[in-house]
Formats: sequence, C-alpha cells, structure tokens
Amino acid sequence: MSKVKSSFFCQSCGAQSPKWLGKCPHCGEWNTYVEELVSKGDESKTPWRESAKSKRVPAPRKLWEIESSEEKRLVTKDQELNRVLGGGIVPGSLVLIGGEPGIGKSTLMLQLALSLAGSKVLYVSGEESEQQIRMRAERIGISNPDIFILTETGTQNIFKQMELVQPDVLVVDSIQTLQSSFIESGPGSISQVRECTAELMKFAKETNTPVFLIGHITKEGTIAGPKILEHMVDTVLQFEGDRHLSYRILRTTKNRFGSTSELGIYEMLGDGLRQVNNPSEILLSQRDEHLSGISISAMLEGNRPLLIEIQSLVSIATYGTPQRSTTGYDAKRLNMLLAVLEKRGGFRLGAQDVFLNVAGGIKVEDPAVDLAVCTSIISSFEDTVLPGTSCFAGEVGLGGEIRAVNRIEQRISEAEKLGFEEMYVSKFNQKSLQGARYKIKLHFVSRLDEVFSKIL
Ligand code: TYD
Ligand code: MG
Repeated sequence: MSKVKSSFFCQSCGAQSPKWLGKCPHCGEWNTYVEELVSKGDESKTPWRESAKSKRVPAPRKLWEIESSEEKRLVTKDQELNRVLGGGIVPGSLVLIGGEPGIGKSTLMLQLALSLAGSKVLYVSGEESEQQIRMRAERIGISNPDIFILTETGTQNIFKQMELVQPDVLVVDSIQTLQSSFIESGPGSISQVRECTAELMKFAKETNTPVFLIGHITKEGTIAGPKILEHMVDTVLQFEGDRHLSYRILRTTKNRFGSTSELGIYEMLGDGLRQVNNPSEILLSQRDEHLSGISISAMLEGNRPLLIEIQSLVSIATYGTPQRSTTGYDAKRLNMLLAVLEKRGGFRLGAQDVFLNVAGGIKVEDPAVDLAVCTSIISSFEDTVLPGTSCFAGEVGLGGEIRAVNRIEQRISEAEKLGFEEMYVSKFNQKSLQGARYKIKLHFVSRLDEVFSKIL
C-alpha cells in the first residue's frame, strides 16, 4: 500500500482541499470541511480501471454511427418504475435510489430483481445477510431463477464476482456501505462514496450494464454523501412517504433519459410493494367529502409537483380582536389575501377568526397556493362545500387578479395523474398551454370573482 495522506472534503459539494477551510470556496457553505484519509495511490490502479476492458483508447466517432440505446431499454413489469425511468431501464445507466430508512428501498430493488425473469441479476448487499434477503424474497413470492446474492462491501471482490457472473443488471445496497481498498477512509465517507461510485460508473458504461445504487439520506432529506454523487449518476430517484401510511411515492429528481416530472406510486403490503395505477384513491380515501373550508392546490415543492389540501375555519370572533392563525403558511400572506377578499370580493371577513392549515405538515412557499387559500376561506365563510374533484393553481395579486404560475404543465399533469377532473388556472397561463391536450377540464380565470361565481 502506498503512502497514506489525509485531505479535507466539503461534505456539501465534495470539494477537496489540503487544509481545513471555514467556508467552502466552491459551494459557499460554512463549516462543511471534514478531514478524511486518502491514499496517495496511483489513480489508474483502482480495481475496475485495472481490468483489460478499460484499455480501449477512446477516439472520436461520427454521431450518427453510434448505436442508440433508446430501443434497447429493458421494460420491466413494474409500470411505475418504467415511468419514472422514462420508459424502462437504459443499458449502461447508473441509477441512484434515495430514501429514508425503512421506506422500502431494498424491497423495491429486490422486487425488481425478482420480476426481471429472463435477465441475470446480481444483488450486492452490504446491509443484510443472505438469509434475510432470502426471507424477504419468499415474502414477495415471485421468482426469477437467475438472481445472485453477494454479501460483500469491498469493491475489489465485487468487481471480480461481476466478471464471473456477468449480470444483465446490478443492484448495490447501499453505496454508503461500499469500500474501495484504494481509499483509506471508512465506508460512507465522502471520498469512499465518490470513489466507489466512480468505479461503478466506469463498470456500467464499459459493460453497458445498468446499475442501481441504493443511497441513504441525511436528516435534511438529501442523499448522504456529496452532492457530486447526484452529478455523477444518470438518474436520481427519491422514494418517499409517511411511514405511518402505507403509500409510497417514487419521484425522479434527475434523469438523463427522460422527464423529471414523473412520479410512481406504490402501496406497501405484507407481500411487498403493489403498484397503484389509480392514484386518486389515495386522496379520495383520506378526505371527507362533506366539509366546507377544504380546497386542493396543485403546488410545486422545489421542482416537484404536489397536490395538497388547504383547510380553513372561519367563524365569528366572539372575544375582542379577531384571530388569524396559520400552520404551514405565511401569516402575512394570509392577512394580505384576507384584505384582498374583503376589498375586492366584498366578503366581510374583518370580524371573523380565520384559521388556516396546510394538511400533512407541509410548509408551503409557492405563491400558486394563493388561489386555493382564497377558495378555502370563502368555502368556510359561506359554508359551501367545494367539489372534491377540483383543484387550483394561481397566484392572487392585490387587485384580486389571478396571475400565471410557473411550470403549469407539470401541475396539470400531476392533478390529472392524481385523478382530478377540473382545475382552475390563470388565463395568462393559457397561451403557454396551446396545443397541449389534457383530460382534465381547465377553467381559465383572470379574477377572483370569476372563480367564486363558478364554484359557489
Ligand atoms: P426495506 O426495503 O428494508 O426499507 P429500506 O431498504 O428503505 O430501509 O423495507 C422495510 C419495511 O418494509 C419494513 O418496515 C417492513 C416493510 N415491508 C412490508 O410491509 N412488506 C413486505 O413485504 C416487505 C418485504 C417489507
Ligand atoms: Mg435497506
């Protein structure tokens, strides 16, 4: 083994520095540098790079002579997974799956491996024993005769076994448990994660084998390890859901081979994950149709479309100054919208207590939620139930006008996918939607009173 040295790595972006720094010059984050041991080994000597296959020297090729792998996508039995991947597994792609512990990442991957009859799958696990995996496979109950389990964390042996098995698909559970002997620091550290991913990426590209990596996520909800990990892989999927509920959502946050607005929905059952083909069942089953003050908004969280429920309670203030209270929504924004409703809509809200709640404990900042907030307040004020199949997306201005919101197509697709039948959007979004065809009925509105005359 060559001389050992240490280096400092930014835990946020993966930047390297020979000395400790307070502020990372690359990503601007403070206090993110941590010392890690790295070997001064020859870069070209990592296990996969050593193999004979990588001796090929790349030369320029004509673009149209390169064979496209689009037709060669491996279409799985899991429609939800096919959808989030952009239409099936692309040969040679590196897919990262992140999610909280216990959410079902290992189950999803084992189920994928089991359902790929006709393909040889190598499932490398550094987290569970062979027996545990066998027991889980028995619970899932489908079988693929060509599935190999390897419980190993050292990349050198993993690459050796891969050359022997020659799998069609490789699954690694998880990237944070892998260890390359060419890096001194422990598994899960920035330099290990980066090195192991680089080796697997090289393997994927050179053998044209799709590789699925399971990644842990941190308390903040991002995939543990440097951001650079997400830059390196082709596709990043997030597996999320409330552990108290059985529904799980698989989202694409990055995809070099398809759209990132796709979303897959599953239900965790006793015998594995079930694909949910009609997602509206989730929302409808959780809602009481006969309540006023409930309105659904098509919002975006980061770049993720999400349909959320806004609840309000408006009642006459019996004690002194009326109260205004919000959970998950900006209180100043609520006051502004109440003033707009009072002045432009003529609703006497001045003497009313207003309580606003965003269901599910979500904090919203997206201005597109405004319209749902207004309709929810008026629904409670007038004690009129809004139709459970309608949703809203629009920013409300001081004049009571409804402004256009960004990524309207994504919001509409999501609402459509979740089974909504009608959606109220700004008239100013109409132009950008020309030519697009949707099953959902779109109401283009420019003023609040137009909306109220339609729904009340
Ligand atoms: P797991 O795939 O181990 O999660 P992760 O790899 O993301 O940590 O899933 C663990 C949970 O899934 C566990 O709490 C039990 C549940 N589960 C079921 O409900 N049904 C099943 O058939 C399986 C295999 C797991
Ligand atoms: Mg697991």
